[in-house]
Amino acid sequence: MVQGLDGLGYRGKTVVVTGGASGMGEAVARILGELGALVHIVDIQAPKVPHAGFHACDLSDFAQVRATAEALKALAPIDFLFPCAGLPPHVKGALYCMRVNYIGTRLLVEQLVPSLADGAGIALISSDAAMGWQKNLAQSLEMLAISDPDEALAWVEADPAKRLRDGYTTSKEMLVVWVQNAAVALGNSRRIRFNAIGPCPTKTAFMEQSADVLSQEFLDSWPYPSLGRIATAEDQAWPLILLNSPLNGAVTGSFLYTDQGFASGVMTGAIDPSFMMGSQKK
Ligand SMILES: NC(=O)c1ccc[n+]([C@@H]2O[C@H](COP(=O)([O-])OP(=O)(O)OC[C@H]3O[C@@H](n4cnc5c(N)ncnc54)[C@H](O)[C@@H]3O)[C@@H](O)[C@H]2O)c1
Repeated sequence: MVQGLDGLGYRGKTVVVTGGASGMGEAVARILGELGALVHIVDIQAPKVPHAGFHACDLSDFAQVRATAEALKALAPIDFLFPCAGLPPHVKGALYCMRVNYIGTRLLVEQLVPSLADGAGIALISSDAAMGWQKNLAQSLEMLAISDPDEALAWVEADPAKRLRDGYTTSKEMLVVWVQNAAVALGNSRRIRFNAIGPCPTKTAFMEQSADVLSQEFLDSWPYPSLGRIATAEDQAWPLILLNSPLNGAVTGSFLYTDQGFASGVMTGAIDPSFMMGSQKK
């Protein structure tokens, strides 16, 4: 019988949350702490929520990522990873965005896999922006085959018009393709589950940073069928926590839209995406 929220399986467990200093990652870290987990946060800024450990790390800096992974190995076995860190492209440019959102994040996760418990869970944050991942799959698989971060960066820089674009959409598509592909080997070898969520616009510092480029009219015209309002960080933290729970033993390699029905509505014609045409501020 499931024993209340302890049934989710986080009490006494060791978890690592990237991006745990703000927004969705902060909400994940706070809720996991309340569920009795030992929460270790990796972020470029210091966390405000209670935590068992904090590792300052810029995920765009691969030497820092390797050093952080080395330090986190002392926690082994780690039970759950929540890679939540990420940023929009216009803050520090498309390439920096790709380095943080995909290349540095993947490096950290891959460095930590040997330190994960058998049966561990990894749940990360992609985006609704990745909903076109299928049409770029061939190119994404090419990039996925490059595990060395510097080589991956060089590959992107060799054809930025195709391989980088805005740096955000591509990085989020890469996360989706990586999760769906790597879940099989992680499951077969270690029973580790690997999943992703795809949020719609959510009220966090990320959206405040985007206010310079996204018009308010665009955000106001976004359809929010399930909540009737823009999502909060907590609205995204819960599906991530539920997805990574051992109760979901049969769920891996999944990309779960946590977008209030936006992607499915657009794909089936229930939502007309033409309102997005005027999304950018002039
Ligand atoms: N807010 C949205 O509308 C939205 C929508 C879809 C997806 N997302 C994704 O959700 C995730 C969480 O974002 P959020 O909305 O909570 O924003 P946020 O800005 O509140 O949180 C992002 C966190 O990532 C950290 N971070 C940024 N750059 C970093 C770096 N170089 N190294 C280490 N940490 C770094 C930040 O310090 C911050 O704590 C991101 O991956 C973002 O792409 C956000």
